[in-house]
Amino acid sequence: MSRNRERAIATVDKALAEGEKMTPADMLFSYKGVLYPTTFSSPETLEALKSFEARSDDVILAGYPKTGTNWLDQILRELESADARYTEEEMKERMDAEKELELSRMKKLPSRRIIVTHLPPHLLPPSFFQGKAKILVLVRNPKDTAVSYYHFYNKMTMLPSFSSWDEYFAAFMNGKLTWGSYFDHTVEWNKHSDHENIMMISYEELQEDQVLGMKKIAAFFGFSLSEEDFSRIAKKTSFQAMKEKSYETHGKSGDILFRKGVVGSWREFFSETQNEEMDRKFEECLGGTKLVAMMKYDVYCKA
Ligand code: A3P
Repeated sequence: MSRNRERAIATVDKALAEGEKMTPADMLFSYKGVLYPTTFSSPETLEALKSFEARSDDVILAGYPKTGTNWLDQILRELESADARYTEEEMKERMDAEKELELSRMKKLPSRRIIVTHLPPHLLPPSFFQGKAKILVLVRNPKDTAVSYYHFYNKMTMLPSFSSWDEYFAAFMNGKLTWGSYFDHTVEWNKHSDHENIMMISYEELQEDQVLGMKKIAAFFGFSLSEEDFSRIAKKTSFQAMKEKSYETHGKSGDILFRKGVVGSWREFFSETQNEEMDRKFEECLGGTKLVAMMKYDVYCKA
């Protein structure tokens, strides 16, 4: 394992260990009205982002937490390296170095950089939208996202646990979670979706036909891959394959990150009232947008 990889895993493992000793009040900070985990960010880092310079060949992935960002991150890295024809060794080094959005290190990385973020457009560096950098935005239906985030919150020691699903559900609906409201985040990205350098893709469409999804992504970024590349990458990034390697790739948090990997696990948690409340809120915020069809809301989210 490379030193960069070891350092990335050690950072998260350290945060998990620190979390065990922290009080809930110490775990979070608020920046412009939105909560963030103290173990992963700071107001200074968020402030410093304003001056971060995008490059025209940056590959940027943006998604609300638990929409499948680790999956798509891995897919993107595989697509990019197949296009660039890196050797196995070169690819390993690149993946490790680019894993975290650490500004000082990101600035020094060679092109093409792959940058992953949970931030909404208004908090990202303005240069992301001014040049030619391309942004892939990942969305997932709110019901499965909520359930996934519930488990994450309760298992990651550096986040305050909720005593019940009902208590958590209210926090999700009110946007009182780290990285803020799912709805605000998704509505804001959707407003940018007609920008020529932005493409949106859903967790649900990747689940239905990953090769087709990867072909759309490759076309958007201008990557050239063979049919054999696509099927090899689909196998390598299947839920099973990624879960099996998760300790190696993500350390102790691997088991938490790769949980179920399916569409529809919300049905085990939502009460009838919660389901109706979510349908109303979704309609109010995103009804009539193309995201309804992208997530197949009417197929996967109706009781
Ligand atoms: P579940 O909790 O519903 O299982 P993120 O990476 O943004 O934190 O998202 C985590 C979610 O993506 C988890 O959802 C996880 O299981 C799912 N996921 C991770 N890798 C996946 C894969 N290869 N295929 C499908 N889903 C995957």
